[in-house]
Amino acid sequence: MSQAPQAAPLSYRDPLDGRPIALGVAGSIAAYKSIGLASALSQAGALVDTLLTAAASRLVQPLAFQALTHRPVLQSLWDSSSELAMDHVALAERAQLLLIAPATADLLGRLALGLADDALTTTALACTAPLLIAPAMEPRMWANGAVQGHVQTLRERGATFVGPEEGRMASGLRGRGRMAEPADLVEWARLILGRGGPLSGRHVVLGSGPTREPIDPVRYLSNHSSGHMGLALARALLHAGAQVSFVSGPVALPPPLGAAIHPVESAQQMAEAILDLAPGADALIMAAAVADYRPRTVSPGKIKKQPGDTVLDLVRTPDILASLDALVRQRAGPRPFRVGFAAETEDLETYARGKLRDKGLDWVVANQVPESFGPGGHRALLVRAGGPAEPLLAASKDAMAQALVQRLAPELVARVGTVAGANLRSGGGHG
Ligand code: CTP
Repeated sequence: MSQAPQAAPLSYRDPLDGRPIALGVAGSIAAYKSIGLASALSQAGALVDTLLTAAASRLVQPLAFQALTHRPVLQSLWDSSSELAMDHVALAERAQLLLIAPATADLLGRLALGLADDALTTTALACTAPLLIAPAMEPRMWANGAVQGHVQTLRERGATFVGPEEGRMASGLRGRGRMAEPADLVEWARLILGRGGPLSGRHVVLGSGPTREPIDPVRYLSNHSSGHMGLALARALLHAGAQVSFVSGPVALPPPLGAAIHPVESAQQMAEAILDLAPGADALIMAAAVADYRPRTVSPGKIKKQPGDTVLDLVRTPDILASLDALVRQRAGPRPFRVGFAAETEDLETYARGKLRDKGLDWVVANQVPESFGPGGHRALLVRAGGPAEPLLAASKDAMAQALVQRLAPELVARVGTVAGANLRSGGGHG
């Protein structure tokens, strides 16, 4: 009988949850997108105080932001009926992130020069929180040396710029000038606010996606791995403050924002990238579906079909986890925490303990298949070396990844004296 996973108490905390964010909106037509941004941030639990420039309030209604954020909106320092106007310095002190989206050419100039002639620029000058800026303007304005000079100044002072992106402008012209999408800005806000999280100062190498083993210039052997689990893990690790090296086989997904991306194709390339990065890291998580076999030879020309059947001569690929185990055993010093994945239809714990032993792992996440294939719920058994197995049941791959990271964080934090132990900050989580 297979051991049926039962339940997983999930209490992952979104880095946006309960975090005060000042959202500055300047007078670009892209201001309409910031209504969606305010909504998404609020839905994730952020406490969003909106500051509109005079030009922005001609394009978007303050009431829209107020209705979505359930908080007052600041437009003018001279509004005696507004509590926020009287107390905008407190707003600047309270904010843990100042997100300006859209930022116009004019606003970038005023920020760079330290001018403070309205509610938004005054708050920006008084605010010591990280500054995240999403510019939006006509492409020729963005390319102008004056604007680029201000961008450079703000970057040097530590501001993070996202976009502008290429595409069609409201004017009908095409070029670089569109405001970044709200979903990407929400993700950047998570990354920045996650920096003080439990995994800050920790470097995690993550193997993800399938590999492709070439047969000839037009054919390869591969598998159905979509890379969704690896992407979900990368995001959850980054949100907890980790530095992530993402080694991924070819997938149709956008790579995780904020990770160092190492694209690979074959098992051999994945092995080389991981064996280069992982020995110095705090953890290696192998969510990749690495091909176990590759064709013995790769034909330099396309193989033409012949009458009758044929046989492919296959050889084993390097086992990356086992190779890392051998590598780190040869040398003194700390070893990265190692997590492998498996997919089993039965006897999850027995097979997982075999892999723990054979590959020298700390954990195996044994997925129950076919239940865990596809977009629906996810069942797994977390099997720990020398410890009990824990059933995990999650509604999605994101929730499963969050549950795993939540359990990984105390393991890595406890390993003072590991590779990045010297850098360990006491980062107390999400304030
Ligand atoms: N793995 C690896 N190098 C390989 C093959 C697999 O590092 N050449 C890793 C995988 O990324 C995974 C773990 O090893 O984390 C388990 O994979 P594998 O041994 O292939 O297990 P299963 O896919 O469950 O396959 P099998 O049933 O054949 O054991």
